[in-house]
Amino acid sequence: MDIRIIQPSEIDGFISVMEHAFGFEMKPERREEFAAKFELDRLIGAFDGEQVVGSGGAISFDLTVPGGTVACGGTTVISVMPTHRRRGVLTDMMRFHLDEVAGRGEPVAALWASEAPIYGRFGYGRATDYYRMKVSPSRVSFTGDPLGTGTVRLLDADGAGKVLPELYERIRPHRPGFLTRTDARWRLGFLNDPPEWRDGGTPKRFAVYEEDGAAQGYVMYRQQEKWEQGLPANVVDTGSMHAATPAAEDGLWRYLLAMDLVATVESWNTDPNTLLPHVVADSRRVERSVSDGMWVRILDVPGALAARRYQTDGRLVLEVSDPFRGSAAGTYALVGGPDGAECTPTDEAADLRLDARELGSVYLGGVTFTELSRAGNISGSADAIRRADLMFGWPLRPWCPEVF
Ligand SMILES: CC(C)(COP(=O)(O)OP(=O)(O)OC[C@H]1O[C@@H](n2cnc3c(N)ncnc32)[C@H](O)[C@@H]1OP(=O)(O)O)[C@@H](O)C(=O)NCCC(=O)NCCS
Repeated sequence: MDIRIIQPSEIDGFISVMEHAFGFEMKPERREEFAAKFELDRLIGAFDGEQVVGSGGAISFDLTVPGGTVACGGTTVISVMPTHRRRGVLTDMMRFHLDEVAGRGEPVAALWASEAPIYGRFGYGRATDYYRMKVSPSRVSFTGDPLGTGTVRLLDADGAGKVLPELYERIRPHRPGFLTRTDARWRLGFLNDPPEWRDGGTPKRFAVYEEDGAAQGYVMYRQQEKWEQGLPANVVDTGSMHAATPAAEDGLWRYLLAMDLVATVESWNTDPNTLLPHVVADSRRVERSVSDGMWVRILDVPGALAARRYQTDGRLVLEVSDPFRGSAAGTYALVGGPDGAECTPTDEAADLRLDARELGSVYLGGVTFTELSRAGNISGSADAIRRADLMFGWPLRPWCPEVF
């Protein structure tokens, strides 16, 4: 099987693999947009003779980590033709892809998995979670006054194109798990709204929360008009909400939950730090189910661990194994704290032993060493586990607001 970067003329074959593997059809007018959203020199194909039978690629991101950012290859558009599955095509593509990411000097790769069992074997660990949330506005009441004095204004798509990227950029550096967004990804992804994406809902609505004339938060949502036995049962489906302040988040929830004729507000990929359950009387009515979000693959341990800050000062010696690729394997001394960190190879005896996969899980502070050691996936003394948790923890849970 030949694995290589695709030529621009091979994009149709590349898309065809995705269509067959995921089970959708891409309209001709979306093909150009698809190509424009990606860096063509980072898309890889697996070839059986002339035919593309495997697709994959990377997006160049800066990933926010606790106290900083790290260059990250976003693993994406992975698929294998149904005629060629389970013959090792993905495994070969992952070797090529991770070499490509490491070759660009990106210390980590990250992805969203279509199915959770696929990527652990390649050294990715579940690093962020999200809530799928459902609220019946009639069942919840706010316990106190609004946290702010701002107001909500609706924007059209042009207005959203001006306000949202700037606001997102203000929020991004403070939120582990957030990713840089190019103009093309804003235009062709987040702001784009072709009818076939609407699934029976309205066009995207954009509401911005402003305080003293300054945008502090926004929510993108669709409405679906519904009547059940003569009673209003509209659904509001929120695609993304970002708030620079708690007052902005509070204001946006109040706006959504007060809308007339609405029986259900649904929010897919909700921030696990959401304040909503804490500002309403019946928090049980804020129904939440949890799922895995972004998975992280550490490729360069010193580069990745030195890129973040740590909640408390400390020193740890970590012995990392990396059966799939080997590049992360070794023993490393990490000295880190709130002001900086250094990580270097060492011959010392290890405090903790873990796989690259587990290091990916704890990297953003969303999974604890305690959890993983209780599951038998990290070994070390109770004292070392406790010190590691104090260092790697972070006040806000990591969350990745977009699937890529
Ligand atoms: C997931 C997919 C890319 C796997 O490709 P593939 O070429 O069949 O994978 P490989 O043959 O390299 O499989 C490697 C190993 O992973 C396992 N594996 C692959 N896909 C799996 C899945 N969906 N669930 C569980 N295990 C899986 C294989 O069984 C194999 O295990 P083994 O080494 O113990 O035998 C392919 O099935 C596909 O295109 N699925 C639909 C689209 C999709 O979900 N893409 C992923 C987007 S994130």
